[in-house]
Amino acid sequence: MTDRTLLLGGAGFVGSHLARRLLESGQPVLLLDNLARTGAESMVRRLRAEYGDMLELVIGDVRDRTALRRAIARASRIVDLAARVGASGSLVDPRLDFEVNLRATVDLLEELRRDGRPVPFLFCSTSKVYGALRKLQLCELPTRYAPVNEWIAEHGIDEHWPLEVTSPYGCSRAAADQYVLEYARSFGLPAAVARIGCVYGPDQHGGEDQGWISHWVAHALERRPIMLDGDGKQVRDILHVDDLVEALLRLLDGMDALRGHAFNVGGGPEHAVSLRELLELMSQLVGEPIAAAHAEWREGDARYYVANPSKLEAMTGWRPLIQLGEGLAQLCTRLLATRPTAPAAFAAAGAVSG
Ligand SMILES: NC(=O)c1ccc[n+]([C@@H]2O[C@H](COP(=O)([O-])OP(=O)(O)OC[C@H]3O[C@@H](n4cnc5c(N)ncnc54)[C@H](O)[C@@H]3O)[C@@H](O)[C@H]2O)c1
Repeated sequence: MTDRTLLLGGAGFVGSHLARRLLESGQPVLLLDNLARTGAESMVRRLRAEYGDMLELVIGDVRDRTALRRAIARASRIVDLAARVGASGSLVDPRLDFEVNLRATVDLLEELRRDGRPVPFLFCSTSKVYGALRKLQLCELPTRYAPVNEWIAEHGIDEHWPLEVTSPYGCSRAAADQYVLEYARSFGLPAAVARIGCVYGPDQHGGEDQGWISHWVAHALERRPIMLDGDGKQVRDILHVDDLVEALLRLLDGMDALRGHAFNVGGGPEHAVSLRELLELMSQLVGEPIAAAHAEWREGDARYYVANPSKLEAMTGWRPLIQLGEGLAQLCTRLLATRPTAPAAFAAAGAVSG
């Protein structure tokens, strides 16, 4: 049997960071990706230049069942990161959303069942499966919303919180998430689900729907206004991609004990920040005020989502290590290298090393 890790959608932001970690530790990686994501192709080229044949790319689509079958047969463990991301696209083409995010996942599960080997399978889901968390009672503070319930304010949202659908996207992702757990229960597949919240880090080609932190930082450095939805008091917990990769590896490695479980993967209350607060933090980092343009509330956007990662911590020993200020400063420094028009104060200060 091969010791290759198969990353479906592995040429994207998270996948390429995960691939790098595996390759660095001498483990061969097979990517199956249709290269739909901006930057995916150049990411693979860079990894190939560094790691040569240890990295294999199959340009293919997860909707192609034969491609899935062939790739699975060559893998000893699998992470599924392939998705059509974001609610707004799903309102334009809900059928595509269904095909990529749900039908392809069920086909993949069927192929794993057919393959018959106990191949550890980690499915990357999203915190969007909790929707707008309409049942969560909130109070309004000067710069942010906060849960009325003190326990939730202290610990965040755990995996018992009911799933809630607010878009075709949320629907396809929540259904796929549940199918994976059900295949673990009904057919004994060694599979688990990572419900990932807001992630940021280098080489993220983000937009307003997903990857918005890198999108904001890039806008700030180019002195373009940042779009602030609603009143900007929405709260999210923010996770650096290196911390996420560590969590995914621990989940994969511990699959025997973790199968059939879903895990909220996020920075938790210690890494929570409101959009307004983040804008302020970024202004301090770049050394000048950042302009914000105000937009309407987004339909189905949660006023507050902060993961409670206690289950993940208890079962794998994982903890996020990178503080928001440190991670953002690193990201600014990286982006600065490619953007000569960055604010003078930030450039002159040399930002931070990293
Ligand atoms: N980055 C985040 O902030 C974040 C937050 C929550 C959840 N997630 C989840 O983590 C996973 C990875 O996220 P990411 O930020 O790396 O996304 P990404 O868009 O950068 O990567 C997804 C990859 O999947 C590929 N892909 C898309 N459709 C495909 C198809 N039909 N067949 C084959 N490949 C296809 C894309 O080319 C891309 O390389 C996704 O499931 C995403 O929803 C990410």
